[in-house]
Amino acid sequence: MILDGKNVAITGASSGIGLEILKLLLENGCRVAACARHIENIDIKDDHLFLKKCDVSKKEEIDSFFEFAEEKLGGIDLYISNAGFAYYEKIGGPDWEHAEAIMDTNFISAVYAAEKMKQTHGTKPYNFVVTASAMGLLSLPGYALYSGTKAAVRGFADAYRHELERGQHFQVVYPVATKTEFFKRAGNGTPVPWPTQDAATVAKRVIKDIRKDINHIFPSTMFRITNAVSRVFPFVFKIYVDINNKAFRKWLNGKAA
Ligand SMILES: NC(=O)c1ccc[n+]([C@@H]2O[C@H](COP(=O)([O-])OP(=O)(O)OC[C@H]3O[C@@H](n4cnc5c(N)ncnc54)[C@H](OP(=O)(O)O)[C@@H]3O)[C@@H](O)[C@H]2O)c1
Repeated sequence: MILDGKNVAITGASSGIGLEILKLLLENGCRVAACARHIENIDIKDDHLFLKKCDVSKKEEIDSFFEFAEEKLGGIDLYISNAGFAYYEKIGGPDWEHAEAIMDTNFISAVYAAEKMKQTHGTKPYNFVVTASAMGLLSLPGYALYSGTKAAVRGFADAYRHELERGQHFQVVYPVATKTEFFKRAGNGTPVPWPTQDAATVAKRVIKDIRKDINHIFPSTMFRITNAVSRVFPFVFKIYVDINNKAFRKWLNGKAA
């Protein structure tokens, strides 16, 4: 996809990876409709930027973000479903609302928006991007629900691509731990898994691979290679999961103390 002059809608643009992608989109000549619940945190003045407050876990709010984006931009060429969050926890019993909240934000919001894009485009080309996670491929202790939502994105995408027309692209991003507000928001004193990247580095890779219409976007080349190697030598990831499990146990003990 050529970005210059394209109309883009992006969710979760008020911080971290979304904010860095937003800056690059504007630098690349896009006109952007951006949303988050706290849009007041987006401190960018640009004639090509249109902000809308939106909670993506609510169907009506995605509907009104779409209406807003279409009205301000005159159509959406690229939709980036980036909003998301994690719980870092030992799941504390049956709690429908707890599970539903993360599934709605991280998974259902993307599925719903993807179908809205398909509906409005018919057979015309467009790109749809979802920020999943490395944890969509490698579940980590403490992130059972989160990993589930991101694996759901990957599973959905791999089947859904077959429903799209030529020129319609569904691209999934698999960032490793990224230095954003994410871990602070996931829970008190959440240990950050190794290795980490900067949000700007992740955003740069996302923009590069959107241009190339790449389906699976890996901001970390090291993770991409390790993920491939682990299919043949599963112990590679087992060792990594064991290390993260130790950190999880330590975190749990700290909470209990
Ligand atoms: N950081 C990491 O290590 C990492 C790794 C892999 C994948 N990811 C994924 O990358 C994406 C961006 O996360 P980040 O690291 O940039 O974290 P972040 O700094 O916490 O940013 C999350 C963004 O999502 C928005 N958001 C959260 N819930 C929302 C909702 N219900 N409606 C609308 N917007 C909502 C937040 O804005 P408001 O609070 O203003 O609504 C914020 O703009 C997420 O999908 C996350 O799962 C992150």
